Amino acid sequence: MKKNLILCASLALLTFAACKQTPKEDYGWLKKGIDAASYQMKFTTEEIADSGKLPRSIWTGYDMDFLCRQLDKDPAMFKDSLRIIPTQKIGQRRFCSSIHDWTSGFFPGSLWYTYELTGDSYYKDQAIKYTNMLNPVKNYKGTHDLGFMMYCSYGNAERLAPNDTVPPALIQTADNLIGRFNPTIGCIRSWDFGTWNFPVIIDNMMNLDLLFYASRQTGDPKYKNIAITHANTTLKNHFRPDASSYHLVSYNNDGTVERKQTHQGKNDDSSWARGQAWAIYGYTSCYRETKDTTYLNFAERVADLIMTRVKTDDLIPLWDYDAPDSPETPRDASAAAIVASAMLEMSTMAADGQKYFDYAEKILKSLSSDTYLAKDGENQGFILMHSTGSLPNGSEIDTPLNYADYYYLEALKRYMDLKGISYKDLK
Ligand code: GLY
Repeated sequence: MKKNLILCASLALLTFAACKQTPKEDYGWLKKGIDAASYQMKFTTEEIADSGKLPRSIWTGYDMDFLCRQLDKDPAMFKDSLRIIPTQKIGQRRFCSSIHDWTSGFFPGSLWYTYELTGDSYYKDQAIKYTNMLNPVKNYKGTHDLGFMMYCSYGNAERLAPNDTVPPALIQTADNLIGRFNPTIGCIRSWDFGTWNFPVIIDNMMNLDLLFYASRQTGDPKYKNIAITHANTTLKNHFRPDASSYHLVSYNNDGTVERKQTHQGKNDDSSWARGQAWAIYGYTSCYRETKDTTYLNFAERVADLIMTRVKTDDLIPLWDYDAPDSPETPRDASAAAIVASAMLEMSTMAADGQKYFDYAEKILKSLSSDTYLAKDGENQGFILMHSTGSLPNGSEIDTPLNYADYYYLEALKRYMDLKGISYKDLK
């Protein structure tokens, strides 16, 4: 009896010591994030049912004095670019203006990620339904945003539920995207509106994944070559010596630079938070596809800039790194989610990958906290709160954005893959 007692006590001690050495990681935040996402995505699909609409954000208003303080400008300098938001719309769910809205691919894409994260076929059925709605986008040539629209929707369909109709839709879209490439300038044209001669915005780096896919799928290197030329021209002209990005560079027909400025940042010389996020994500993709260390080295410089310049303890940046450091300044959860997703990929590539992993994990924990994660059935069904679309245009200020949700879910998936855990392991 005494012997048995001693044996039991020793075993208990050994178990206690083993538990102490390898503490079980607490993934409560992760489960909370995925559960919130599943609830919100289901809630939204049920609410919008067969309306044929794609959720984008919540309509917000703005106060002129607040905008002046944020932009450090007199109203005369920016009032012409402000959107007029009808008062009755404020607080309502904002839908994509049409399937040709640049954000149309994110809602279907979020459904794909929710399916991938949970394994629940409800989300797959919904993802197929909303992805199919975008089919006519394969004929569209009016913007560079075709990668966002089709690769986040059809691109995820290709990964998770491939069928014969998906690759032709993606290749046709890639053909339309490279139709916007100008070989003298060495870039894909971003927008067809405005007074610029040939505008290229940093966001355009996000469309290159579609071109890398198209070369893999067809065996034709032309798509990849155009993506690389675009990335190289952007590397040459879009960045300041500290690796921060201008939002927009417009080119003359001979390839010289016409202007460098902002459209959504505080001013031409500021560092718009989402612009830096698009840059780190885009150059990480370029390294994955080419193994050219120029791109990884550059992505690391952008990462270091972001980590140095962030002003918030929870690492969710202010909407512009040069915005006033004051409690009223809105944050941009979308920029944080994009950075987290990119840094998780970088963590597998960079020599000092752990530092990027740790930073991304901290962002994801912040986004999964009550400060940013919506309560079930609130926030018009979006997952995250507190993003900023285009403050200088008075549009989507401190509101959910469908692309914040998309990159948050992508980052959660990348995180779980790196940790080797699945949803059913999360208790
Ligand atoms: N591509 C537009 C934006 O990031 O707001």
